[in-house]
Amino acid sequence: MDYTSIKVERRGRVGWMTIDRPKALNALNTQVLTELLQASDAFAADAEVGAVVLTGSERAFAAGADIKEMQPFGFAEAYLSDFASGWDRFANARKPMIAAVAGYALGGGCEVAMMCDFIIAAESAKFGQPEITLGVLPGMGGTQRMARAIGKAKTMDLCLTGRMMDAGEAERSGLVARVVPDAELLAEAQKAAEIIAGFSLPAAMMAKEAINRAFDTTLTEGLRAERRLFAAAFSLEDQKEGMGAFVEKRKPNFRHR
Ligand code: CAA
Repeated sequence: MDYTSIKVERRGRVGWMTIDRPKALNALNTQVLTELLQASDAFAADAEVGAVVLTGSERAFAAGADIKEMQPFGFAEAYLSDFASGWDRFANARKPMIAAVAGYALGGGCEVAMMCDFIIAAESAKFGQPEITLGVLPGMGGTQRMARAIGKAKTMDLCLTGRMMDAGEAERSGLVARVVPDAELLAEAQKAAEIIAGFSLPAAMMAKEAINRAFDTTLTEGLRAERRLFAAAFSLEDQKEGMGAFVEKRKPNFRHR
């Protein structure tokens, strides 16, 4: 596929997707979604890819869903559009995915960052859900994922006032995992993704699946799911290799199965 709104490349075992609509501050239109889904499916199918990084530009990770595309919508277009379910599919990617965020991550941009497994933010990053200023509300999971990530107080504050949160506040709130200088953002994301991609892929995917259960079930059910996955991990060659290497005092060489 020829990509026009994103850039796609592989750096070792890490798949990179870079949103690339500089004139619109990487606003997320249907084309961006279509291309991200294509790239994400290709990385899912590529056995050499062990982790994925999603990023934007220095100025904007993404300044939201494309307001100009949505502006003429009526209820029927908004309701019938496949936009939200497409993003649901993107959020359900099974391989580990890191968001590397510099500049604006607003509205849909913040929501897409939250769809990733964790966020590494540059010091310049600014997060917000300013949909209220447009007469609407977040529509790509923002009210739900943010409330689960940072709790009710700050989610209400951000969604009801439309204000932006800088990288430091986002880290203190638990929205982002790490904050790094802007110049180090991409290298830091690559380094983190390489570490993940060096481990057993099925073990990493099971860990991701288990953690995500924490957000949509009870503690009892979540613990049960974790226990089943933990036991299943003992059927992996990588478990034999990982534990064998520890006992033999050598570095493990995971074969990713
Ligand atoms: N959609 C479409 N175009 C956008 C955009 C968006 N979300 N954000 C920025 N752009 C465009 C601007 O229209 C402008 O284009 P033109 O040069 O053709 O006029 C270009 O990007 C540069 O933007 P600005 O001139 O506004 O840049 P700035 O530095 O002055 O301001 C900003 C930057 C504060 C991020 C400002 O652009 C802004 O407020 N953007 C909108 C943020 C927003 O409201 N996002 C939520 C969108 S709704 C949503 O996401 C719904 C959902 O949950 C699904």
